Amino acid sequence: MMTEAGKAGRLAGKIALITGAAAGIGRASAVRFAAEGAAVALADIDGPRVQQLADSLRESGASCLALPMDVTDEASVAAAFERLHAEYGRLDVLMNNAGGSSMNDRNVVDIEIEEFWRAIRVDLFGTFVCCRHAIPLMRLAGGGSIINMGSISAHRGLVGRDAYTAAKGGVTALSRSLAVEFAAEGIRSNIIAPGAVSSERMERFIREDERVRNAVSRHLLGLPAPEEVAATAVFLASDESAHMTGAVLALDGGRSAAA
Ligand SMILES: NC(=O)c1ccc[n+]([C@@H]2O[C@H](COP(=O)([O-])OP(=O)(O)OC[C@H]3O[C@@H](n4cnc5c(N)ncnc54)[C@H](O)[C@@H]3O)[C@@H](O)[C@H]2O)c1
Repeated sequence: MMTEAGKAGRLAGKIALITGAAAGIGRASAVRFAAEGAAVALADIDGPRVQQLADSLRESGASCLALPMDVTDEASVAAAFERLHAEYGRLDVLMNNAGGSSMNDRNVVDIEIEEFWRAIRVDLFGTFVCCRHAIPLMRLAGGGSIINMGSISAHRGLVGRDAYTAAKGGVTALSRSLAVEFAAEGIRSNIIAPGAVSSERMERFIREDERVRNAVSRHLLGLPAPEEVAATAVFLASDESAHMTGAVLALDGGRSAAA
């Protein structure tokens, strides 16, 4: 299919919304989705940065919309989806990417309670509430693909990461539930589960925390770049994965395969 910009692409004709699109994996996915011909709504709490990205993608011929959005605040999410509806009229792909672990995470005894709720609010509630507002727009499209950023931490115990582990465990369970609940409407829901990805944030953790360095050394193939996660997201967003739902795609350099 030809894109609006006149290029063929694996996502030509699709309308996609990516949360946390201003940096890291979200940004790489936005760039790649646009290059594959999707119209992309870039949602992020960092409004100016996402606006800058939207402007530069538009210059290269893509259809883009910058959406300032705080995924922890339902009113902000609802307003962003209303703008999306007014601009594009429907949604084909939602990538729930905003989130991430923090250096303030600890085990259940040592962690500050507020850090637990921060992780739950951004990763789990953010995913939940974006799905709540995206699915009615996917119904207008006659189906859709939800891509949730999970983590190896949802499947294996990690030392000192009890808030993040709980949040990503919730995201993973929710993703599977959505797959079952909405399959009859042609709405798919899948997880990408990295170990560590060489985003700017992770590179900072690697410099600052020896436990992270040890974990990283167990990635047999080394760390994937954000662009490699974006490539997996393109597959899940496209009709190439039309019969895949409820799946967890590990992108962890073989870490979870090793004893
Ligand atoms: N980087 C990794 O090693 C790694 C590994 C496994 C899973 N993941 C997951 O991938 C996703 C992206 O990670 P990353 O490393 O690219 O993160 P990042 O910190 O580089 O980017 C996150 C983006 O989300 C935005 N954001 C933060 N809070 C927000 C909110 N409340 N509302 C809207 N936007 C918000 C930030 O402004 C930023 O642009 C996260 O869900 C993370 O848990 C990352």
